[in-house]
Formats: sequence, structure tokens, C-alpha cells
Amino acid sequence: MNGAIFFSSKYGSTEQYAHWIGQATGLPVFDVNDATADPKEYDFLILGSAVIFYRLIIRKWAKSNLTDLLDRSKILFTVSGAGAGPKLDSWVAASLPKILLSKMDHVALRGSMDPKKLNWGLRQIMRIGALINPDPQASKEERGGFDYVDKSSIEPILKRVERLRANHAML
Ligand SMILES: Cc1cc2nc3c(=O)[nH]c(=O)nc-3n(C[C@H](O)[C@H](O)[C@H](O)COP(=O)(O)O)c2cc1C
Repeated sequence: MNGAIFFSSKYGSTEQYAHWIGQATGLPVFDVNDATADPKEYDFLILGSAVIFYRLIIRKWAKSNLTDLLDRSKILFTVSGAGAGPKLDSWVAASLPKILLSKMDHVALRGSMDPKKLNWGLRQIMRIGALINPDPQASKEERGGFDYVDKSSIEPILKRVERLRANHAML
């Protein structure tokens, strides 16, 4: 059974997780912006997406490849500032078709944000966001940045890949 990892990253954390998962599983890793990356060539897919402004940035690619994605076993991992919970679930639900989500296992990973790496406009947006964010921890992170990237957090994904492979071997 052959699988592959398809990711969409803006600042690098999702890409880093995708490569760690690739190293641990031996699966090939593709940026969805790579025109040669074709999900049809694989039996199962691991989709990784950064969350930017309350949406998964892989959403357009996912919609344009919907038919091929629906036909295959899938694991979704998101990379965000917010941790797992209803807020993140609502952003995932607003980003992907219901039918796709209903057939997909979701693992929430946490990323990083360094305000110094953002352009001036984005820094202002983050600053305003921090001012109006009612959650004091999230507000602090919007202002000062954060780094929650943690290699060990890919474990639940590795377990799911093992399970997919084992189920397929039994067929
Ligand atoms: C402009 C911008 C907007 C963001 N919007 C959100 C958001 O809506 N929710 C969230 O939980 N994290 C948000 N984040 C944090 C990102 O999810 C985090 O930086 C993550 O590591 C991005 O993945 P990437 O490094 O692969 O691009 C935002 C970060 C930036 C820079």
C-alpha cells in the first residue's frame, strides 16, 4: 500500500512536520504547489495544512482535487497557533467540504510565529488582533510570537499510518 504526504505551508512549520513524518514513515513528501504532485498515484494520503486567518491554506487545492481525495484513505494534520478544540474545529469545518471531512481523521499540531519574519502590514494586523483578542494568552502570542513546534507531537499520525498499513495488509 503506497501513500504520500501533501502539505501547504506559509512560514515553514507545516513543511517541517511533513518532512519529519516523511522520515519516520518513508512516505514521499510533496508541496501542493508542486505541479507534479498527483494524489491519484497513491492509495492513502496525509494532508498537512497551516491555519492562517481562521482557514486552512490547503483548502483550494483540496477542493480542486476533491474527487481524488474522496476515493482515498486520509489523515489531516493542521498546524496552528491555537491548540485542538472547538475554535480550531470550526475553522477546519469552514475550510473543507463536509463530505471530505466526514471521511478524514484530524490531528491538530501547533506551529510557530515570529513577528520579526512578518511584513509590516501583517505585523500591524497581528498587533490589532492582540488588542481585541479576549483570550490573554492568545493575545500575548499574537503580539510577541510563539514556538510550539514539537517533533514528538507527530506520534498520533505515525500510529494512524501504522494502522492503515496493518488494515491493508489484512485485506
Ligand atoms: C498572518 C498569520 C495569521 C495566522 N492566523 C492564525 C489563525 O487564524 N489561527 C491560528 O490558530 N493560528 C494562526 N496563525 C499561526 C499559524 O497557524 C502558525 O504560524 C503556523 O506555524 C503556520 O504554519 P506554517 O509555519 O506552516 O506556515 C497565524 C499566523 C500568521 C503569521
